[in-house]
Amino acid sequence: MSASPADVTAEASRRRSFAVISHPDAGKSTLTEALALHARAIAQAGAVHGKGSRRGVVSDWLDMEQARGISITSAVLQLTVDDVVLNLLDTPGHADFSEDTYRVLSAVDCAVMLLDAAKGLEPQTLKLFEACRVRGTPVITVINKWDRPGQEPLALLDEIEQRLGTLPTPLNWPVGIAGDFRGVLDPATDTMTQFTRTPGGATVARREELDAAEAARRHGREWRTAVEELELLTASGQVHEQAEFLAARTTPVLFTAAVLNFGVAELLAAITSLAPPPQAWQDVQGRPRPVDAPFSGFVFKVQTGMDPSHRDRVAFMRVCSGRFERGMILTHGASGRPFQTKYAQSVFGRERETIDEAYPGDVVGLVNAHALHVGDTLHDGPAVRYPPLPRFAPEHFAVVRARDTGRSKQFRRGIDLLDQEGVVQVLVSDRRGAQAPVLAAVGPMQFEVATHRLEHEFGARTVLEPLGYGIARRTTASATPAVDGKHGAEVLRRTDGTLVALFTDRWRMGTVETELPAGSLLPMFDTG
Ligand code: G4P
Repeated sequence: MSASPADVTAEASRRRSFAVISHPDAGKSTLTEALALHARAIAQAGAVHGKGSRRGVVSDWLDMEQARGISITSAVLQLTVDDVVLNLLDTPGHADFSEDTYRVLSAVDCAVMLLDAAKGLEPQTLKLFEACRVRGTPVITVINKWDRPGQEPLALLDEIEQRLGTLPTPLNWPVGIAGDFRGVLDPATDTMTQFTRTPGGATVARREELDAAEAARRHGREWRTAVEELELLTASGQVHEQAEFLAARTTPVLFTAAVLNFGVAELLAAITSLAPPPQAWQDVQGRPRPVDAPFSGFVFKVQTGMDPSHRDRVAFMRVCSGRFERGMILTHGASGRPFQTKYAQSVFGRERETIDEAYPGDVVGLVNAHALHVGDTLHDGPAVRYPPLPRFAPEHFAVVRARDTGRSKQFRRGIDLLDQEGVVQVLVSDRRGAQAPVLAAVGPMQFEVATHRLEHEFGARTVLEPLGYGIARRTTASATPAVDGKHGAEVLRRTDGTLVALFTDRWRMGTVETELPAGSLLPMFDTG
């Protein structure tokens, strides 16, 4: 059964695809679980026995993360709220932080930036925000852990404005300082939503709507402070305007205590009402392919060994246009060959369900998709190619060698494939030779995945020798002689031809840079 363009447009317009960007410990897992709890609670409203439970699908996902070993789960949590379909794409953090984390951001239409109220902007958040900024992705900011002592809300907003250069516009404002979270003031209605803890935060928090007079009576000084602070922000123009948010010039801000489920319903409402639905995706020539055009999608991530009992390989594809139907025979843009989609699944932690259809904004897991690589386009009907995914600045470097020189052929084949797949970046130089390439990664987990695969898929056991570099910059052929070997720096070549200069630290890089013409060292972040 095929879908008319109008059906596809209608399905696309009710989708919101987003990811949470945060530093480890800010509360991403807790918030994810709270969002699922609220969505389920909403879905079950009216059901006689509909009660939220903290265990369930989400916990499976978390269990899986804990038990995972080498296979890192990345999943898409799909929730339906008031007829809006939310696709929450997981952005691996902690030890799993890798280039994949950034690539996920290439497949979403919006991001939720989650901050710890005590810590404000942290390094990983800044890096991920930068990836959103480069793509122009709109960002909703959530200040979490408001139930614990933290910074002043105005100071947090100031930090966002100063360091990110985007104007924070509060959608609500906390009543009570960090550590004394009583509820939120909604400037749109001039009312307060008062939150009451439920034991263990296991169920949706009890909420009570108070008008301004009642809020003032119950919360006196705290209410007045919230009103005054919001007035200050309003006077300085920090008011949400949808067009400014969509242009990524402003970021709406909400306050939560995810662990208590405070403010989570407000966040869900903000995502469903403000986050943009999928738009026409731009192809490699910059031409937009409308959402109702024939099917197209691109692979933003390839994962191997997710199911320990099989040596499988899942390619995660974001649908950009048209309706995906399992069993369709698509065209693989890179090779022009037909691609069978019999084994399409939605992958959610350990749970895999066969997926029969998907629409723009959805993610399809294509199982055993050995021909697919990160950045590949699949399409039906008129050909389309989406831009390659950007490469990101590596911060970890190590020389890799085959342990057994008799396996050097297998080793080279493995390295080439891992490079092509974007598992790690591979850097070479004449000095080091082809049998001792340098692997460059955003996170050290990428090395583990690479060496594991070299051993198990290619039969090449390896030795990894970490290098003391911490910074990479693109450089030019003319600057290379003045960089290579200076102050411990080294210049290598990436397979796409990019010359990459590695430095141990900023200080030494600065010393080298002062002797070079301007523009000799450029940030590694490609925009794709
Ligand atoms: P992450 O995925 O971003 O790394 O963070 P995660 O959700 O695992 O949360 C990190 C810690 O912060 C957890 O505590 C979690 O309970 C706590 N947390 C998350 N949201 C809030 C919040 O709104 N308020 C408060 N007070 N704490 C929050 P933990 O000590 O690591 O574990 P637990 O023993 O508390 O479960």
